[in-house]
Amino acid sequence: MPHIPVLLKEVTEFLDPKPGGKFIDATFGAGGHSRAISEKIGPTGKILALDANSQAFENFKFKILNLQTIHGNFRNLKAIAEENGFEKVDGILFDLGLSSDMLDDPERGFSFQKNGPLDMRFDRSQKITAADLINSATERELLKIFKEYGEERFSKSIARAIVENRKEAKLKTTEELFNLIKKSVPGRFRHKAQDSARRIFQAIRIEVNGELQALGSALNQTLDLLKPGGRVVVISFHSLEDRIVKKFFQEAAKGCVCPPEFPQCVCGKLPLVKILTRKPITPTEREIEQNSRARPAKLRAIEKI
Ligand SMILES: C[S@@+](CC[C@H](N)C(=O)[O-])C[C@H]1O[C@@H](n2cnc3c(N)ncnc32)[C@H](O)[C@@H]1O
Repeated sequence: MPHIPVLLKEVTEFLDPKPGGKFIDATFGAGGHSRAISEKIGPTGKILALDANSQAFENFKFKILNLQTIHGNFRNLKAIAEENGFEKVDGILFDLGLSSDMLDDPERGFSFQKNGPLDMRFDRSQKITAADLINSATERELLKIFKEYGEERFSKSIARAIVENRKEAKLKTTEELFNLIKKSVPGRFRHKAQDSARRIFQAIRIEVNGELQALGSALNQTLDLLKPGGRVVVISFHSLEDRIVKKFFQEAAKGCVCPPEFPQCVCGKLPLVKILTRKPITPTEREIEQNSRARPAKLRAIEKI
């Protein structure tokens, strides 16, 4: 299934691209959002598009005006932006996670529904794969990953089964891991083993790619890159991602942090941004009907003061 950009109308509404605008698409993917931005900024605008997955740019078939593409990780956002003349921009977009093209490609190992190598790297030049992680992490480490990132109730038995099983032979494929998950889920929950597998696969992916650390680090770099009035829009698909975004936005929007008993402000802290989405924006039922992968999406946006 080709990748369908999520919350497309809402992204353009909150980024509010104007002719001649300069934008960073930190997660180019299949380029759906970049195309929409490009249409608004016209021939005098510029987009710097980043993706950790170099294949994203190889697969891309459309022509986008004034698009500069960079294979890189958004955890290095500021350095990449500055190296490419994007030190002050009108907006930065993060559409987190992976694209449908990656999920659907068995060779990438992201899906338990397709047999392939346990890879799961966004960036294939990275050394550590999912197989490396699964075959070397301790039972405690696996348990922590499954619980924290997957919120999976059978984390313990799944972690135990992996460690027991790999004594015989290393786990190599998505099918082997899926079968092990199925076996570790108690009989009366086995009809829901796919849900457990989805959560475990997602947890492993988050760990392999250091997704939460990269997000926290990238958000910290955004404010320096924005012009006053510039905007950051983030679409997240996992509650832990959304929590990081929400906390960062709230912190940046906070003014004085003096204790309430102080008669006057001594900290001098001023709000750096205005929050544009008091509550996260979620897809409409209609969008979910047309693209079920949009279901967990949450969009938040800020504007630099
Ligand atoms: C959901 S897709 C983006 C889809 C895109 N907005 C579109 O409309 O086609 C997310 C993309 O972000 C990339 N990505 C995830 N984490 C990244 C990171 N830390 N740095 C750079 N790219 C990343 C993935 O490789 C994937 O291609």
